[in-house]
Amino acid sequence: MTALSIPVHVPRGEFRDAMAHLPGAVNIVTTYGAAGQAGLTASAVCSVTDDPPTLLVCVNRSSSAAAAFLENPSVCVNTVGPRHQDLAILFGGKTPMEDRFASASWEKGASGAPVLLESVVSFDCRVAHRHVVGTHAVLFCEVLEVAIAKGEPASVYFARAFHAVSQ
Ligand SMILES: Cc1cc2nc3c(=O)[nH]c(=O)nc-3n(C[C@H](O)[C@H](O)[C@H](O)COP(=O)(O)O)c2cc1C
Repeated sequence: MTALSIPVHVPRGEFRDAMAHLPGAVNIVTTYGAAGQAGLTASAVCSVTDDPPTLLVCVNRSSSAAAAFLENPSVCVNTVGPRHQDLAILFGGKTPMEDRFASASWEKGASGAPVLLESVVSFDCRVAHRHVVGTHAVLFCEVLEVAIAKGEPASVYFARAFHAVSQ
């Protein structure tokens, strides 16, 4: 009998190149609490269920924002469009947290996390569960409040670039 050969997984670089071709919404995800205020740009955001209304967010554990996301109970997912493209680049890394937040207008959500004014849609959440998978922490976030800016164009990140989409 010939043994079945189980393929090893695709090399990391090939996976990353493939993921660059999976279009994704651009979100500025924030948190506030005892571990401080922090935020990052994330495309790894997905709906899980509407009962209870839940999103998941994947946060790289080596990012400067990770400690706050691993400890604080609050998260706000702010989905952005072209008007916030420069902000999405700032929150995309290597900029001190104070400078990221000083570059836009915010209000405090029910969870305590910063809600970005004029975002396309915002989901203010409390973190219900966390799981570590490899390099990332997956946060399961129950949605407390939403705010929708009707008619506001959104951005899609595709092939390592921002693209505008409108209704
Ligand atoms: C379009 C875009 C999407 C990103 N998506 C994610 C993501 O889903 N999860 C994540 O942890 N980092 C993501 N990043 C990278 C983080 O924004 C970046 O690592 C974070 O700001 C931390 O950088 P720092 O360690 O320099 O603070 C994304 C960056 C960009 C520009």
